[in-house]
Amino acid sequence: MRTLRFVAALVLATSGAWAAAACAPSGPAGRPLPELPLGASPLVPVPPDNPLTEAKVELGRRLFFDAQLSRDSTVSCSSCHEPERSFSDGRTVARGIDDKEGTRNAPALINRAYGRSFFWDGRARSLEEQALLPMVNPDEMGNTHEEILRRLGASGSYRRDFVDAFGDDEITKERMAQAIAGFVRTLVSGNSPFDRFEHLGDTAALSESARRGLALFRGRARCALCHTGGLFTDERFHNTGVTWRDGELLDSGRFVITGKNLHRGAFKTPTLRDVARTGPYMHDGSFATLEEVVDFYDRGGNINPYQDPDIQPLDLTLQEKESLLAFLRSLSGEMRFGRAPLDRESAHK
Ligand code: HEC
Ligand code: HEC
Repeated sequence: MRTLRFVAALVLATSGAWAAAACAPSGPAGRPLPELPLGASPLVPVPPDNPLTEAKVELGRRLFFDAQLSRDSTVSCSSCHEPERSFSDGRTVARGIDDKEGTRNAPALINRAYGRSFFWDGRARSLEEQALLPMVNPDEMGNTHEEILRRLGASGSYRRDFVDAFGDDEITKERMAQAIAGFVRTLVSGNSPFDRFEHLGDTAALSESARRGLALFRGRARCALCHTGGLFTDERFHNTGVTWRDGELLDSGRFVITGKNLHRGAFKTPTLRDVARTGPYMHDGSFATLEEVVDFYDRGGNINPYQDPDIQPLDLTLQEKESLLAFLRSLSGEMRFGRAPLDRESAHK
C-alpha cells in the first residue's frame, strides 16, 4: 500500500518519468521500487526539472561514492557521509583532502528530500546547488568542476551511465548535480520504535521511560518547539548558544547569509532521526554524547545576547534526563533505498 502511494506521489511530482512504474512497480532494471519506511511522508518533493528516475539515482550513487571527484582521488562524498552512520562521519569536524580540517560537523543526510535549505547556515537553496560545492571546497575535495568533467568524460562507463540517465552522453556540471541530488533524495530513514508506537499504536515498541521522554519532549522540556513534526526539525535557524564562548560567538552562523541580528550564532535545527548514530553533535561537533546535549538544554543552553527565547532552563531530574535519552534513542530507524554499498535494502536495522 505504501509502495503504491509512494509511486503515485512521485509520478505526480515527476510527470511521467516513472509512469511506467505505476503499471508495474519496478524500475528499468527490474528491481522493485523501494517502499518508504513507516513515518516518512509519501509526498517526496522532487523538482519538476529533475525527475527522479532509477538510472539517474544509480548514476548519483556512483558519483557519491567515487573519490575521483576529489583532486587527488582520496576523498568521496561518502568519506564524510558514511552509510553506517546515517551518512554522517563520526568526527567532531569534517576532514577532507590533505587531512585538512573544516570548521563544521558533517550532518546526517537523511530525509533531506523534505528539507528547505541546506548546510548548517542554510546557504544552499537546493540539493542540486549543494552538490557542486564540496567538489571545489579547498578543505573538502579541492578539485575544479572542469577537471571532474574531464575525468568522467574519459570514462566509457560513465558516458554510458549519463546516456541512461539523461538520454545522451553530454556530461555537464548541471547533470552531475542533478544525479547526485537525486541520489541524496532517496536517503530516507524511518520505521523506528518511535514510528511503530506513533503510527501503529504499538505500545510495546517504546519502554515506559521512552514514553515519558516523549511526553517531556513535547511538553515541559520544550524540544518540540523547534524539533517539530515527523522530521523533528522546523527547518528554521535558532541561536541555542552552542557557539558562545568566553563572551563571543565563534561562528556567526546564519547571520552571514541574512545579515539579520536574530540570526547571529543561529544554525539550522537538525533532524533527530537516527540521532544515536550521528554523534558528535551540533554544528561544531562540540558535544560527544547525547548526555552532554541533554545537560546543555537542561541548564538553558549558553546564555548570550542573541539566544532564542525558547531555550529556557529546564530543571530536569536525573530520571527525566534518562527518559529523554531513552526517547532520543528510540528514533533510530531503518535506512531505505540508496543503493550499494547499500545494496542491502537497508543500511542498518
Ligand atoms: C570533507 C568532508 C565532506 C565531504 C567530502 C562532503 N561533505 Fe557534505 N558536508 C560536510 C560538512 C562539514 C557539511 C556541513 C557544512 C556546513 O554546514 O557549513 C556538509 C553538508 C552537506 C549537506 C547538507 C545537509 C543539510 O542537512 O543541510 C549535504 C546534502 C551534503 N553535505 C552532501 C554532500 C555531497 C553530495 C558530497 C559530495 C559531492 C559531500 N557532501 C561531500 C562534509 C563533507
Ligand atoms: C529554540 C529551538 C530549539 C529547542 C527548543 C531545542 N533545540 Fe535541539 N537544536 C536546535 C538547533 C538550532 C540545533 C543546532 C545547534 C547548533 O549546532 O549550534 C539543535 C541541536 C540538537 C541536537 C544535536 C543534533 C545533531 O545532529 O547534531 C540534539 C540531540 C538536540 N538538539 C536535541 C534537543 C532536545 C532533546 C531538546 C529539548 C530538551 C531540544 N533539542 C530543544 C534547536 C532547538
